[in-house]
Amino acid sequence: MKIFVTGGAGFIGSNFIHFILREHAEDTVVNFDKLTYAGNLANLKDIESDSRYRFIQGDIADIEVVRKAIPDDCEAIVNFAADTHVDRSILDPEAFLRTDIFGTRVLLEVTREKKIPRYVQISTDEVYGDVEVGQFSKETDCLHPSSPYAASKAAGDLMVMAYVRTYNVPALITRCTNNLGPNQYPEKFIPLAVTNLIEGMPVPVYGDGLQVRDWLHVEDHCRGIDLALRKGRVGEIYNFGANQSPEWPNVKILDAILQQLGKGQDMKTFVKDREGHDRRYAVDTTKSTTELGWKPTWSLSEALRQTVQWYVDHPEWWKPLKSGEFLAYYKQQYAHR
Ligand code: NAD
Ligand code: TYD
Repeated sequence: MKIFVTGGAGFIGSNFIHFILREHAEDTVVNFDKLTYAGNLANLKDIESDSRYRFIQGDIADIEVVRKAIPDDCEAIVNFAADTHVDRSILDPEAFLRTDIFGTRVLLEVTREKKIPRYVQISTDEVYGDVEVGQFSKETDCLHPSSPYAASKAAGDLMVMAYVRTYNVPALITRCTNNLGPNQYPEKFIPLAVTNLIEGMPVPVYGDGLQVRDWLHVEDHCRGIDLALRKGRVGEIYNFGANQSPEWPNVKILDAILQQLGKGQDMKTFVKDREGHDRRYAVDTTKSTTELGWKPTWSLSEALRQTVQWYVDHPEWWKPLKSGEFLAYYKQQYAHR
């Protein structure tokens, strides 16, 4: 398959490109990425001279650039490109609207014009909003996004469904829970915690720290996307999640990280809660299991151990990121907390 990946220099997109090149010897990938603060070509250094891989820098919201970049023989678009950090969306929602909504519309439009046979929108469980203990969001549930990030992703999803219905664009959507693994920008909870601790800095815990995310290893997510790409039905939505039982609230994740790094409880700092903070996400994965044959392979303790060790082993990857732009953001983040 000839795949046009957007946002492939970020966390999940770069893991997905590695997954495709490793698992499908006949596939080729064009990676189209704007290289925002979250895009990092170091994530793809080892494949940069692979003849099956090519990188193009560009913005998915710029239709002329997208038209030129997509090869005529493209067989599928997989859209990872997005602004993705909830806290940044609270500080300044605008970029989120441009990329996550308008950019999605541009990709759908070009899929239609060029009659590309497949389009996969990478979405998130955050579009459902938070759910009570014991409840699991299904693909057919109403959308109740809480943050500007989640609202912009939800709007992108609705645009996908509108293009399927109105223009018969062969698109489908995946919605996954929080991912962990290598290459995640250190503004997100797990890499922030690990890298802060290595640097001897405390870890901010929002509110009471009892919020629940259903953490899934990024490799399991990539396998799910690959199955949806090849076997998923047009116009359908597929949830992916670990269905962790018992569930791990944020403080339990942090305790495991503290223990692995040999750090004490004094490195945990409770700070003012995030505005509109979703309490618990959980998704029903029956459909992806029965229709796609997908199931997670990593346990959370193994996934967390491997992830923490990866950041310990790769300071050359994250140290340059925790300067300049990141520090300015971090300062702004804590100015109002
Ligand atoms: P990320 O922030 O690490 O990477 C996003 C990538 O998109 C970066 O490489 C960035 O340069 C690129 N990008 C941003 N705006 C762009 C634009 N206008 N044009 C082209 N490229 C642009 O994000 P991630 O964590 O890898 O998430 C990827 C996708 O998966 C997102 O759509 C996100 O909503 C979704 N998702 C993420 C998670 C998670 O836990 N990280 C869970 C479920 C779904
Ligand atoms: P995050 O990684 O930002 O992902 P999301 O908000 O999209 O789920 O945060 C994961 C959880 O960790 C979430 O409940 C917010 C919390 N959190 C903290 O407690 N402290 C932090 O410094 C960060 C970044 C997040």
